[in-house]
Amino acid sequence: MEFVRQLLVFLHLLGMAILVAMFFVQRRLPAGSPLNVGWLHGAALQLVTGLALQLLAPLTHADYNHVKLGIKLLVLLVIGGLALVYVIRRVPAPRWLPVTLVSLVVVNVGLAVFWS
Ligand code: HEM
Repeated sequence: MEFVRQLLVFLHLLGMAILVAMFFVQRRLPAGSPLNVGWLHGAALQLVTGLALQLLAPLTHADYNHVKLGIKLLVLLVIGGLALVYVIRRVPAPRWLPVTLVSLVVVNVGLAVFWS
């Protein structure tokens, strides 16, 4: 079971990397481009791996702070909700959007690392 947890953490960190990478990808796109669908893929990967880690905790003998995970989930739902709305509408991504999304990702990294 420890290998399963490690695999999920591995994918969870790759999901974070995808979200950060999307910020730089988005910056290189011409002004007026729609939001890159990669934001949605990264957010979905974080949701699936994060919830799997939390739900499997009794089997992996992990002891997580569920208040922290609840707040991380809320932050991720804002990221995913914004990404979903803008990817589906395919309107030009506003300038504030990529900065807001990546800032929320950084908030979640901070919560993960500094709040034990
Ligand atoms: C943008 C969203 C998210 C980001 C950037 C993120 C980032 C991270 C990072 C960097 C870690 C590693 C921390 C460390 O090893 O010290 C981590 C661990 C973890 N995250 Fe997330 N996370 C996100 C969303 C979520 C969500 C929504 C959940 C569950 C509801 C979740 C559950 C967990 C759990 C359970 C761990 C601990 C894994 C372990 O070491 O056993 N994460 N997260």
